[in-house]
Amino acid sequence: MQGVDPAWLPDGAFRPIGTRRTLIRGSGPLVDTVHGEVARACERFGGSVSREPGSYDLVLELDGDDGSEGFVYERGDGRTTVTASGARGLLYGFFHVVRLGETAFLDDARRASYQPESALRMLDHWDNVAVHPVMGQVERGYAGGSLFWEDGRARGDLERVRAYGRLLAACGINAVAVNNVNVHATEARLLTDRIGEVADIAGALRPYGIRTHLSVTFAAPVVLGGLASADPLDESVRAWWAEATARVYATIPDFGGFVVKADSEGQPGPFAYGRSHADGANLLAAALAPHGGTVHWRAFVYNHHQDWRDRSTDRARAAYDHFVPLDGEFADNAVLQVKHGPMDFQVREPVSPMIGAMPGTRLAVELQATQEYTGQQRHVCWLGPMWSEVLRFGIDGESSVGALARGGLVAVANVGDDPFWTGHPLAQANLYTFGRLAWDPNADPHHVLDEWIRLTFGPGPGLAAGLRSILDGSWRTYERYTAPLGVGFMVQPGHHYGPSVDGYEYSPWGTYHFADRDGVGVDRSVASGTGYAGQYAKPWADVYESPLSCPDELLLFFHHVSYGHMLHSGKTVIQHIYDTHFEGVAEVEAARERWASLVDLVDPARHARVAERFEEQLRSAREWRDQVNSYFFRKSGVADERGRTIY
Ligand code: GCU
Repeated sequence: MQGVDPAWLPDGAFRPIGTRRTLIRGSGPLVDTVHGEVARACERFGGSVSREPGSYDLVLELDGDDGSEGFVYERGDGRTTVTASGARGLLYGFFHVVRLGETAFLDDARRASYQPESALRMLDHWDNVAVHPVMGQVERGYAGGSLFWEDGRARGDLERVRAYGRLLAACGINAVAVNNVNVHATEARLLTDRIGEVADIAGALRPYGIRTHLSVTFAAPVVLGGLASADPLDESVRAWWAEATARVYATIPDFGGFVVKADSEGQPGPFAYGRSHADGANLLAAALAPHGGTVHWRAFVYNHHQDWRDRSTDRARAAYDHFVPLDGEFADNAVLQVKHGPMDFQVREPVSPMIGAMPGTRLAVELQATQEYTGQQRHVCWLGPMWSEVLRFGIDGESSVGALARGGLVAVANVGDDPFWTGHPLAQANLYTFGRLAWDPNADPHHVLDEWIRLTFGPGPGLAAGLRSILDGSWRTYERYTAPLGVGFMVQPGHHYGPSVDGYEYSPWGTYHFADRDGVGVDRSVASGTGYAGQYAKPWADVYESPLSCPDELLLFFHHVSYGHMLHSGKTVIQHIYDTHFEGVAEVEAARERWASLVDLVDPARHARVAERFEEQLRSAREWRDQVNSYFFRKSGVADERGRTIY
């Protein structure tokens, strides 16, 4: 495959070196995949691979196949051994050896077992088969067209999809949903007469242990089956789903299941029939259960026709209000997929209070790798620290979000048919980090970043230090020059790129900041606001209830305060806004310089692509700074105490 970036698996990532011998034991398609990986490396770099017993430097052994994904890694007596009792475990064990590089063969005796924290580590693609007139082919996609679909059908050449599967397996991802959650007419048919195309994609991903899932429309029995209703309690509707699902499994026996966005932003759902979301999810769960499939039912349900004059309705409350009363009613193979924050993937949000409030329901937590609100892959914004904060957030003093994501960790994918996969080459770090954090939500994201840098760019220390300094703080930098203190949005309506402070202020979407001449922020306290803070368990309900205890970075999410309000940092809100916006731009300038200094250490095409994106990031960051600072200066009349230029 010409012209596609090898990302974190460059040629030679696995080097058997010289005379090293590898033994592969076990049988089955994934064992063949591992064998193929080693054999190809041997052809290029020497060494040998065999399935016959003898004396070896590396042994990769599958013992049985119980469906598990863990592996045991052992080094001793001059030999490295990976043992797994499930085929995927062998694959992940092999990639563990790849990640270790030469270290895997150093002579220190050790033994460790590895096990993913969550059984489902999934990417949701918001890909349309046909190009949508407004959203393009990939909804909120910033890396070209779809990897899977071209000219209105599945790609004939799936070589790149196979390469994608390989990259995903190497960071631990095991499930992919191949189409947009907003299911348009063409895409709806993937469930029925076009399932063969999904099967082709599934065939390309399967050798890397990845199961394929499909987004379906709740109205399928009507729009595809010609029934009069999609009522989840109607027997003919249930029979239709059972039959349609059986046909899917006849074509794709290891199909993962359905993803459903229902009663959300115009998508059909059970409300039309006076039924609950548990009724809706259980309908599909029942159809999938005989085949071992899972329904991922999204909790992104809110009123998107809100009257901005109405201050009693709070979009942040919606998911909890809709779903928490249904706890315990969802079938075992129904997973409720919850965005990590209560709004919509802003650069800073509190953790959704739903997580932890539904002990009787399997939850999956959804993150957004595609940078819809974080610079659209024109800005560097490595999201590892944000995701890690979310995943480690303590719900009740014991359980973290990562531990509670029993139904899986999901990210909206950030790739497309761009030669660098992700448009901005450094956005690959987000994809890699997601996979590694899904495997181990407690992993230190900075170690993951270092690992990604080493694998992708090689061992050069100068380059590594430069990349680390560019990526490490890039999320906080982005936060500094955009919407302040957790207030969110302030983006251009529709496409969501670039600043527009009042862009959503008088809109129906429920995303307001309420700035006036005296102050800014949304009062979500129980005492005087929307009551959202009360959806949290203690201690968080108390922490968020008062502006005195609320963390600075979320202050405007939870409270409407005056511009002179003193933050814990010792700065007033207005001075914080000015300072962070100047700092954020200065940090982008420094990162751009740093990147320029790496010109001789990075291949020219990649260097040029990033350099060009830095020009746009800087232009955009200045625009953000000047619009936000001017807006708040004009509202408040308070001058910058450092006398910098505000327009
Ligand atoms: C955001 C995004 C939409 C998407 C939606 C979702 O609102 O802007 O494009 O459809 O999230 O998660 O369903």
